[in-house]
Amino acid sequence: MDAPGVQWLNKMELINFDEQHDLYSWAANKFSALGEDAIKNRRQFDVALSGGSTAQAFFKTLAKERPAQEMLSHSAFFVSDERAVPLTSADSNAGNAWRMLLDPLGVLPSNYFPLYDGSQSPALCAHAYEQKLKGCLPLNEEGIPIFDLIYLGIGEDGHTASLFPHSALLIDIMHNPCLVQASGEPVNGHERITFMPKLILSARHICVMAPGAGKARIIDRMLHEPLNCEKWPAQLILRSGHPGLTLLLSS
Ligand code: 6PG
Repeated sequence: MDAPGVQWLNKMELINFDEQHDLYSWAANKFSALGEDAIKNRRQFDVALSGGSTAQAFFKTLAKERPAQEMLSHSAFFVSDERAVPLTSADSNAGNAWRMLLDPLGVLPSNYFPLYDGSQSPALCAHAYEQKLKGCLPLNEEGIPIFDLIYLGIGEDGHTASLFPHSALLIDIMHNPCLVQASGEPVNGHERITFMPKLILSARHICVMAPGAGKARIIDRMLHEPLNCEKWPAQLILRSGHPGLTLLLSS
């Protein structure tokens, strides 16, 4: 599918679709292309899924596209942030990814790594997850796990993953050695756990999906107004100059 309106902004591939369903279809094709390439070159495809309604709409499209079973059998799925709720909760990003995408695609439970399952505190889950990532993903020269693909959504307040405006997590964030961290503060009623920017920016590819006019407006401000990552944490990713960053927008 030829994507309409591809631009390159600070190395970021920015694509603006007329229709949301075209955004999700394009993203599904990109998933399979990146997966095939990862399997061919590294025999493994490590993906971190995001949460929220955008992710759920993408899951439904991807589940219908049915990526190749051979690729899925060499793929491992993680989540880039989570709410501290049981996997059975409709608010669980890991639970929704399993119910809407991975289980329908026949992904084995052994290839899926939820971030929070209620077995210990969010802070201990975050630490354990970071150790798990270091044990099962390739590491870069700084010892940071390398994902092949990380998905992110964007909130209209400028958050991404569970990095929210004015959060204590943002203090000196690029010098914080933690790669996965509990927020320690309830957001929308739940304590959160989130990938930190250094982990996100170590991925080979980052796909940010931000459909709709409201998200387009905040994205435009974050791309073109002065950098203020405490106010708009998503700028940590969007203005990073990461060479594998794709931003998908729609009207
Ligand atoms: C979450 C996500 C969060 C989400 C944005 C966009 O746990 O909800 O990680 O960062 O991606 O809030 O959410 P919507 O797609 O629902 O607008």
